[in-house]
Amino acid sequence: MNPAPLHLVDKNVSARLERLKARAPMLEVKDLVKTFPADGGERVILNRVSFVTHRREFLCVVGPSGCGKSTLIRTIAGLEKANGGEIRVVGEPVHGPGPDRAMVFQGYTLFPWLTVLGNVMFGLRMADKEREGAEREATQWLDLVGLKAYAQSYPHQLSGGMKQRVAIARALAIQPRVLLMDEPFSALDARTRAKMQAYLIDIWRKIDVTIVFITHDLDEALLLADRVLVLKANPGEVVELLDVPALPGGRDLSAPALRAAHDRLESFIHAQEQKNAVEDDPLPPVVRLADVTDNVD
Ligand SMILES: Nc1ncnc2c1ncn2[C@@H]1O[C@H](COP(=O)(O)OP(=O)(O)OP(=O)(O)O)[C@@H](O)[C@H]1O
Ligand SMILES: [Mg+2]
Repeated sequence: MNPAPLHLVDKNVSARLERLKARAPMLEVKDLVKTFPADGGERVILNRVSFVTHRREFLCVVGPSGCGKSTLIRTIAGLEKANGGEIRVVGEPVHGPGPDRAMVFQGYTLFPWLTVLGNVMFGLRMADKEREGAEREATQWLDLVGLKAYAQSYPHQLSGGMKQRVAIARALAIQPRVLLMDEPFSALDARTRAKMQAYLIDIWRKIDVTIVFITHDLDEALLLADRVLVLKANPGEVVELLDVPALPGGRDLSAPALRAAHDRLESFIHAQEQKNAVEDDPLPPVVRLADVTDNVD
């Protein structure tokens, strides 16, 4: 049984969310179905997933491991073909990758043979922008992510957080309407991750982009998002689209409203994990592999 819905207590927060939902839809996903071949048949990964995000919204997607979060974002990016339903960006149907969407992945995906500037210029050059203009624009984006001084460095000379900032600059340089981020900070240590979260909010406030951000981490979702989309697994379906009961930036996760939101998200995920644990094969018994003569039992 689903827990009772949260009530937004703060009038400023509910007014902001009302305004947000009144804005133009930027990304519309309707009855999306995605299957993969399995065991000689087709396995349904995403089943009739529908949601809408609005202009300059920050949407986080959470759900148990394997529920189809990456498949969803890859299908939105046009890297996977949908088996049913439709995806629209600013009203236009998605049939493949396009400059209206950009993606930042979990792993470091910079081109190691290009400088930082070369990496950020890459998409602009691919879009036939002449070298001088591309360099000027790329430098501006590097400035936005605080890495102008590293323009001539190579990716291997940067820390993990810096690499992800370059990846964000590279994605934003093509000026997408929707920025798709698949667990972009999960390989970073806790301190760098916290810095990157604050950084991303700061960047998002300065530009006109809608963000769809996948994370395993409920706290991360509650720190960043306007709304949180919760998926369940087997097959992946939407179970909730939660309004985050706080204004963006500088959120205090120990505030009662955010703790209640955390508990609510946790209850969905936990219910799923318990269900999966029952359905999954039990773990095999662990056999003793070493000949332990020094018996400590
Ligand atoms: N190319 C593919 N071919 C076949 N099955 C796939 C393919 N890509 C993903 N799957 C399956 O689809 C399911 C969903 O995978 P996906 O990577 O989207 O989940 P996820 O929610 O992102 O998981 P995680 O939280 O671990 O990143 C998994 O069972 C996975 O094995
Ligand atoms: Mg994934």
